[in-house]
Amino acid sequence: MAKKYFIKTFGCQMNERDSETIAGMLSDMGYEEADRKEDADLVVINTCSVRDNADKRFFGTLGQLKSIKERRPDFLVALCGCMMQQERVRKDIERKYPWVDMVIGTHNIHQFPATLERTVEKNSEEACEREKDTADRFPEKQNHRYKKDHTLMEVYDEAGPIVEGLPQKRLYRHKAFVNIMYGCDNFCTYCIVPYTRGRERSRKPEDILEEIRRLTEDGVKEVTLLGQNVNSYRSGDTDFPGLLRKVHETDLARIRFMTSHPKDVSPGLIEVIRGCPKVCDQIHLPVQAGSDRILERMNRKYTAARYKRLAEDIRKAREGVCISTDIIVGFPGETEEDFKATLDLCREVRFDSAFTFIYSPRPGTPAASYGDMIPDEVKHERFNRLVEIINETQRESSMRLLGTDCEVLVDGPSKTDPHVYTGRTSSFKVVDFRWEGQKGLSPRGDEAEDIVGRMVRVRITQCRTFNLWGELL
Ligand code: SAH
Ligand code: SF4
Ligand code: F3S
Repeated sequence: MAKKYFIKTFGCQMNERDSETIAGMLSDMGYEEADRKEDADLVVINTCSVRDNADKRFFGTLGQLKSIKERRPDFLVALCGCMMQQERVRKDIERKYPWVDMVIGTHNIHQFPATLERTVEKNSEEACEREKDTADRFPEKQNHRYKKDHTLMEVYDEAGPIVEGLPQKRLYRHKAFVNIMYGCDNFCTYCIVPYTRGRERSRKPEDILEEIRRLTEDGVKEVTLLGQNVNSYRSGDTDFPGLLRKVHETDLARIRFMTSHPKDVSPGLIEVIRGCPKVCDQIHLPVQAGSDRILERMNRKYTAARYKRLAEDIRKAREGVCISTDIIVGFPGETEEDFKATLDLCREVRFDSAFTFIYSPRPGTPAASYGDMIPDEVKHERFNRLVEIINETQRESSMRLLGTDCEVLVDGPSKTDPHVYTGRTSSFKVVDFRWEGQKGLSPRGDEAEDIVGRMVRVRITQCRTFNLWGELL
């Protein structure tokens, strides 16, 4: 019987994309996907280190695996992702979780299959010796099969050349993530990513276009181009707007990209937003803070005024474009006045949506050693005030779609009701609508399934807290 794997992914789209590659490599090795970690022979945890709660959730998941490991010694646990690039984390694993079988870094996931093979080999030899040893010395403990192992660790501090052509097992058949660059050179003072993902490297346009060509042949309609800072993409003569124009010529219906750093948004990008209709009505443009003093301490390299001008220019270039953002509250030294500047900026820009985060010190980053940490209760109080404004502008943004007809790319049936289907507008808003299938077929029948991955028109009839509700036209 084929071995089964289960991958748990934390963190951003980069990690999701990496997990798809790992799933592809495991498929090639003959593994099949399990629905639950309990049913798997191999569990992979792809970790994130961007905030402390990601770390905590990881250790929680790891704890749950220990009991499975104790029951089934041939059950394998592999760790990868951003946490594994940090020495302090690897030390912790060696000390407190020696039963973890293998660890692989972010720069060498292409070595996952080889490392897994070595792990299996090591475990089998050891398992033989261990059991013989146990049986010889403690006949009464024959059933005690679990013993302290050492973890095979394959992690590099620096990235080698980009490895192309790795397999992929996609989450969706109609949409896909495509990496255009790796790493980050910006060193925002709060952020761990430059330490876990290394320096910026851009893929060659021909490799990116070849990947997209294969995806469209396979039925993909929408891609999201991924990079920590897509605007600093450069390969030969091709910059990011140039790449977007090339991608625009493919058979894709929709193009998204993330993340854009405001400091690098060029007039060329704004021209692409104006002139290339396949580029979606959505841009994610993290502002982080509205106070110039804090922006400077964050090393963001733009001012609030520049950000506001950018947002204005983007909205002028494309009617109905939605701007989403990331905001951190409680950065070290943030005064009430600084925070009010963030609120003011939000009131002015009126974000269509925003991810709001409470500052979390990351060991090894400059901001973690700033002396003027903000007390938790102040951070939470500010966070709540910010969320209030964001909810207001978000709702306002959704209300604008009420009564209009939208193109929706259908993702699938909703989790709670098989007759309700869900999809996204070009502006990335979630739209739910009723679909009973055709000609009396059950909604799970072939024809109904057909709607998944299709572009449909939906009239928006209701605006709810987290989604829009509409009627299929
Ligand atoms: N490369 C992207 C974002 C990567 S991390 C960019 O530059 O926009 C995603 C978001 O997490 C960031 O935009 C930031 O808002 C948040 N974040 C990063 N480090 C954080 C920290 N130490 N505490 C709280 N939020 C953080
Ligand atoms: Fe982190 Fe800044 Fe790089 Fe984004 S641009 S990944 S926030 S260092
Ligand atoms: Fe997390 Fe690494 Fe992404 S730290 S947010 S998984 S780049």
